[in-house]
Amino acid sequence: MKQAEPFSNDELPLVEAARRAAQNAYCPYSHFPVGAAVETDMGIFVGCNIENASYGLSCCAERVALFSAIAQGARRFLRLAVSCPQTVPGAPFESRVPCGACLQVIAQFLPMEAPLLIDGVGRKFLKDLLPYPFSLK
Ligand code: THU
Repeated sequence: MKQAEPFSNDELPLVEAARRAAQNAYCPYSHFPVGAAVETDMGIFVGCNIENASYGLSCCAERVALFSAIAQGARRFLRLAVSCPQTVPGAPFESRVPCGACLQVIAQFLPMEAPLLIDGVGRKFLKDLLPYPFSLK
């Protein structure tokens, strides 16, 4: 399994914010906490996954972070960090990467060149994880 790439000193605070946010995860069904943090023109906004007894109504950490930022007036998004603290070292990339639905929402607000800081993996770029987001343009 590939070694996790280290984050730069400039990136670490956002990753740490995502790790802290995961502590608030409401995940009584999956028991899989996730935290996300997005850096914006208005500062950092965080989110955690929030599940529901009607499973399909659950919302991922990334979308909670983005929607919270939008609701508070942020409009310029620089980068996003995500942390799944319960994944073991060497867990597959697929168990740490944002899901397809979240990537589509991330693509709505972040530039395609934006870095996605994936805890335990390293720095990836939105354009590589979702090369063809749906767009009405
Ligand atoms: N989850 C996220 O919060 N983000 C993702 O990108 C993938 C999955 C959450 C949803 C659910 O609460 C739990 O992780 C297990 O799928």
